[in-house]
Amino acid sequence: MIVCSCTVITDLDIENALVEILNAPDAPIPTPGIVFRHLSKRMNCCGCAPLAVDTIYNKVDELEKKGLISPTLSATTRSKLLAFTARRAKASPVAHIDPVDFVVSDSKDLVRKIA
Ligand code: FES
Repeated sequence: MIVCSCTVITDLDIENALVEILNAPDAPIPTPGIVFRHLSKRMNCCGCAPLAVDTIYNKVDELEKKGLISPTLSATTRSKLLAFTARRAKASPVAHIDPVDFVVSDSKDLVRKIA
């Protein structure tokens, strides 16, 4: 499935990037910005940001079930990503997409989905 039509990034591209990112020492929070940079891509219109965030969350769960990342790493990553997204939403309550971090600031739907 194509997640970003501007850069033609698929969910499989994101999955493969997450395996590399999350298995690196001192793995960063895999925000869409981190994942896109890892793929040597840059968002254009940012219209895919909500789908990218959802895909990352779902892929982290899938990777844990496949045994490609540890359950501890999966839980930690989802928790950190949720906290990161919530902090950004709190800092800027008006929904917008940050072109630098590519994170949707209005994360209420995501928070409800994860909770
Ligand atoms: S759809 Fe991803 S940047 Fe436009």
